[in-house]
Amino acid sequence: MNKKNNIILIGFMGCGKSSVGYRLSYALRQTLIDTDKLIERQQGMTISQIFETKGESAFRQMETECVRYLIEGADKQIISTGGGLPMKEENHTLLKQLGTVYYLKVTEETVYERLKGDTTRPLLQGENPRARIGELLAKRAPIYEACADYIIEVSDKSFEEIIGEIVEKERSRQ
Ligand code: S3P
Repeated sequence: MNKKNNIILIGFMGCGKSSVGYRLSYALRQTLIDTDKLIERQQGMTISQIFETKGESAFRQMETECVRYLIEGADKQIISTGGGLPMKEENHTLLKQLGTVYYLKVTEETVYERLKGDTTRPLLQGENPRARIGELLAKRAPIYEACADYIIEVSDKSFEEIIGEIVEKERSRQ
């Protein structure tokens, strides 16, 4: 298996994949690709509209196709992923092929504080988002860990610290 040289950011909604990705892309002078944005562009719809009109399982299929597409074309890039993408087992092998996987690990409290009032995440729109976050995070955490090459705790850290850790790990890999 030929591993590509991309940096892949995985983790729960609100862990900062997009913001860390943006800053990392600037620090390393590498292009940032966001799987959610790529899918939204390809579909001409927002994630919420895709969930509403096509359903979650169609969206999950789009995520897998998106990773396959990136394996064909992306190299030396930063790829930030949707929070549910690593949940499909098939995507683990694909992510490993796509590059080095960094899991941005966040606490339930931090996610809640960051995302309360958010209307763009269909999975958190129910009655009790706090409980939903706890439930989903407990189920997903071991899967993120199994999928990751590196785990970065992010809850109490500044962007500079997070970027510094990733850059250091990348250097030690080379
Ligand atoms: C999802 C996370 C979202 C988006 C979709 C589903 C999930 O991305 O892909 O709403 O299942 O965790 P972010 O992690 O960027 O919020």
